[in-house]
Amino acid sequence: MMKIAVFVGSLQQKSFNKMLAKNLESVKPDDMEFQYIDLNLPLYNQDLEADYPAVVQKQKDIVRQADGILVITPEYNRSLPGVLKNALDWISRPYGDSAFNGKPAGVVGAGLHHVSGAIVQADFRHIAAFLNMNVMGQPEVHINSAAERFDEDGRMSDDDMRRLGEYMDTFSEWVTTRGSK
Ligand SMILES: Cc1cc2nc3c(=O)[nH]c(=O)nc-3n(C[C@H](O)[C@H](O)[C@H](O)COP(=O)(O)O)c2cc1C
Repeated sequence: MMKIAVFVGSLQQKSFNKMLAKNLESVKPDDMEFQYIDLNLPLYNQDLEADYPAVVQKQKDIVRQADGILVITPEYNRSLPGVLKNALDWISRPYGDSAFNGKPAGVVGAGLHHVSGAIVQADFRHIAAFLNMNVMGQPEVHINSAAERFDEDGRMSDDDMRRLGEYMDTFSEWVTTRGSK
């Protein structure tokens, strides 16, 4: 079974990105499993590294065991939500013991505006390059104007679902061929 550590960069209950995650999960290949990372973590503080918090260690272990990383995130002020950056910082530490090293990754997202997500995805890519992840370039998934793209139950149009299916198939191939667990 291919294990994917999934980071959803929004904590709010009715999050478009959580809905997007569920839709992606519904079209993933059968041999792939989503393992959601809890981003509700203490704020990173280098003083705590020596006594690495158990809740963070649990997330780090999931990432370590994963075959790939999938980040599904809104853009906050043209960059990463703090909770996502906080989790990336924790799991990359202590120095020399990052759980991200060599992992294949993907980044997608949803946002409210008609221009949404390109900058946060680019920002994630530059962090991921430093962390030695291998981020898939194409296809891209930017769910702009999110309020018009999900129905009451969080479902998306057939056209959107077809594109998400194509994304997951390509991502599965990416993880298989670029992996170095
Ligand atoms: C602090 C904050 C900053 C935001 N900045 C941006 C932004 O830079 N670009 C953008 O497209 N949307 C921005 N938004 C709007 C988000 O797209 C919108 O809140 C979206 O619903 C968040 O994703 P979620 O539904 O998964 O929580 C911002 C929202 C918040 C709360």
